Amino acid sequence: MLSNKLALITGGASGIGRAVARLYAKNGANLCLVDMTSDNLNKLAEEIQNENKSVKISTHLCDVSNSGDVANLFKSIRESHELKTPNVVVNSAGITRDQVLVKLSEKDFDKVINVNLKGTFLVNQQAVRSLLESLQNDKNLGNVASFASLINIASVVGKYGNIGQANYAASKAGVEGLTKTIAKEVGKYRIRCNAILPGFIETPMTDKVPQKVLDSIVKSIPLRRIGQPEDIAQLALFLASDSSSYINGASIECSGGLAF
Ligand SMILES: NC(=O)c1ccc[n+]([C@@H]2O[C@H](COP(=O)([O-])OP(=O)(O)OC[C@H]3O[C@@H](n4cnc5c(N)ncnc54)[C@H](O)[C@@H]3O)[C@@H](O)[C@H]2O)c1
Repeated sequence: MLSNKLALITGGASGIGRAVARLYAKNGANLCLVDMTSDNLNKLAEEIQNENKSVKISTHLCDVSNSGDVANLFKSIRESHELKTPNVVVNSAGITRDQVLVKLSEKDFDKVINVNLKGTFLVNQQAVRSLLESLQNDKNLGNVASFASLINIASVVGKYGNIGQANYAASKAGVEGLTKTIAKEVGKYRIRCNAILPGFIETPMTDKVPQKVLDSIVKSIPLRRIGQPEDIAQLALFLASDSSSYINGASIECSGGLAF
C-alpha cells in the first residue's frame, strides 16, 4: 500500500508513532523515525528492520519545538535517503502537563503549546517547503492524485475539552485549525493535510491513569474498550495511502465513540 512512500514519523519511538511506524514498514514504506532520545528509537528501528529487510530506515534525534532542530532534521533526512523528501509526514510527538485551570502554571501552558502546536507547525512548514522545492525541480511529480499526505495527531480533547487539560485541549484545537489551513493552502499541489483525533489510547502517555479512573472512562466509551495504538495506525495507513486521495482538511475521530 505504501511502496512508493518515504514516511517521516515524529514521536516515532513510542505509543501511536511506534505503531504507525511498524504498520507503515509492513506496507512497504521507507521510514524516517524521529524522537528526542535514541534508546527506544534505535531499538525500534532494529526491530522493524529485522522484520522488513527491504525497507530503508533512518533515525533522527530532534526536539520538534526547536526550529533549528527541525531544519537540521530535513537536511539529515535528505542525506540519509538520496536527497528524497518525505511524502508522508505523521506528527505524533506530543506531551501532557495536566492541571486544572486555576493551578495551571504559565510554564506548563507554554511547554504543551510549544511541543504539540508549534512543533506540528514547524514540521509541517519544513515538510511543505521541501515538497514544493522538489516539485519545482521535477514538475512531473505533481501529476498524481496525491503527491503527499501530512497527518497531524490531534485529539478528541481539542474538540470537546477535558477537565485538567486546558493547555492540551488548546494545543490540539490549534492543531486542527492549522491542519485545515494547510489543506487549503497546499491542496492545489496535491499535498493533503488531515488530522486524526484519537480518543483514549493505551500508550505510555496514559499508563499512569489509575485503574478506577480507567474503569469509568471505559464506561463512557460506546465501544466499551480503551483504544490501542494499532487502531490509530490503521487510520494513519489509510490517510497515507492513495486510497484516501480525495480526503483533505478533515478531522477524523478514532475514539470508539468517546465524546466526553
Ligand atoms: N494516548 C492517548 O490517549 C492519546 C489521545 C489523543 C491524542 N494523543 C496524541 O497522540 C500523540 C502520540 O501520543 P502517545 O499516546 O503515543 O504518547 P507517547 O508518550 O507514547 O509518545 C509520544 C512521543 O513523543 C515524543 N516527544 C515528546 N516531546 C517531543 C519533542 N519535543 N520532540 C520530539 N519528540 C517528542 C516522546 O519522546 C514520545 O516518544 C500525541 O500527540 C498525543 O497528544 C494521544
